[in-house]
Amino acid sequence: MPTILTPEEPTVRPVPEPKPEERLRRDRPSLGDWLDLRLGWWGFVRKNLDEPMPPGVGWWQTLGNLLLTLLVFQFVTGFALAMYYSPSPTDAYRSVKHITEEVTLGSFVRGLHVWGSTVIVIVTVLHILRVFFWGSYKKPRELTWVVGVIIFNLILAFSFTGYLLPWDQKAYWATVVGTRIAGTVPVLGHALMLLIRGGEEVGALTLTRFYASHVMLLPALLMVFTGLHLYLVRRHHIAGPVLPQKGRPTPFYPVQLFKDAVVVLGGMGIVVYLALAFPPALEAMADPSGTDFAPRPEWYFLGLYELLKIMPAGYEVVATLVIPGGISLGMLLLPWLDRSPSRHPARRQWIIVLGTAIILLIAIMTLKGILETPPPGHGSGHAGLPVTLDRPLA
Ligand code: HEM
Repeated sequence: MPTILTPEEPTVRPVPEPKPEERLRRDRPSLGDWLDLRLGWWGFVRKNLDEPMPPGVGWWQTLGNLLLTLLVFQFVTGFALAMYYSPSPTDAYRSVKHITEEVTLGSFVRGLHVWGSTVIVIVTVLHILRVFFWGSYKKPRELTWVVGVIIFNLILAFSFTGYLLPWDQKAYWATVVGTRIAGTVPVLGHALMLLIRGGEEVGALTLTRFYASHVMLLPALLMVFTGLHLYLVRRHHIAGPVLPQKGRPTPFYPVQLFKDAVVVLGGMGIVVYLALAFPPALEAMADPSGTDFAPRPEWYFLGLYELLKIMPAGYEVVATLVIPGGISLGMLLLPWLDRSPSRHPARRQWIIVLGTAIILLIAIMTLKGILETPPPGHGSGHAGLPVTLDRPLA
């Protein structure tokens, strides 16, 4: 039967009277309502609390939020330290000594910052390992991974630049060796070293350059890349386990939020304990004219340091550039090197075997470095470093 078209009825319907509590909210909004009307923040919070978690997601997926919290704390403690710190060779050491010995809670805040940086490196490595073994870097999360690799390098740069700031013997000589490593890069090496040091020697310009990078450039870059990382994580959602599990996705709140909160509180508790139990040390003030101070870089650079020690003369560049550069490039290109569409470890055996071998090698070299590099101090010589990297430069 053909449809009979009738003229439309007028669509204007009477607007229902608002309920009394709605009228109250509209006429006298609370601060929260007032802000929500303008910012729409409650919608944003709601969206994040409702973020779907595939079945099988659990404790391993808490590391990202632990990292985020640790980073926020690093900003807070770093800001507190910067209010007392003075970045010049004549004052840097004295200002850190003042913070450590005289400022109320100064030693504790410095401890939180120093131990926080170590815990951040450990948690970042665990987060990377989780993503690597789960194959979560595969399509469509390639960029999430690439941005993560950039963040990892930024975190290492934070550590390298921060290490010099106390301007004590340990800081000074580790930076002498570290910057000389940059100098071994073929062709561009010397120019690179001059750029980092601000001259031929580690001195006042090195300190101001490291300070400016540590408190301005690196935080700005880290904020941009972390924001991008989190945006991408939300856009593509968290990947489920390698073998999909039965069940429907559940919202982030309450189960995953609870797990995140437990891990965040536990992680922060560890940092607080370390800061209280092992307050950060300060060696004697940097003495650029001294010749017998054994440098010792941060523990996570000791693997590289160890590699450098076993390199035959003339092949230092293999340890300073070829191997670390190859690993960094391999990490950046990982989503395209591992072309298997499956995330299951059994179906991407070569990358799992290669990745595990590299991880074990780094772990063994780091452990060897920790056990065999003498503590920083006088009289231990150059601790086996190639002559080209020992000081003073001929
Ligand atoms: C500032 C440091 C970082 C922060 C705050 C951060 C934060 C997060 C968060 C909150 C998640 C979702 C929850 C989780 O999987 O734990 C995540 C996932 C992810 N992260 Fe990171 N991350 C950081 C560093 C890195 C690094 C260094 C890499 C790799 C080199 C990386 C690669 C990834 C990838 C590929 C995912 C997606 C995982 C999946 O979907 O299962 N992240 N990150």
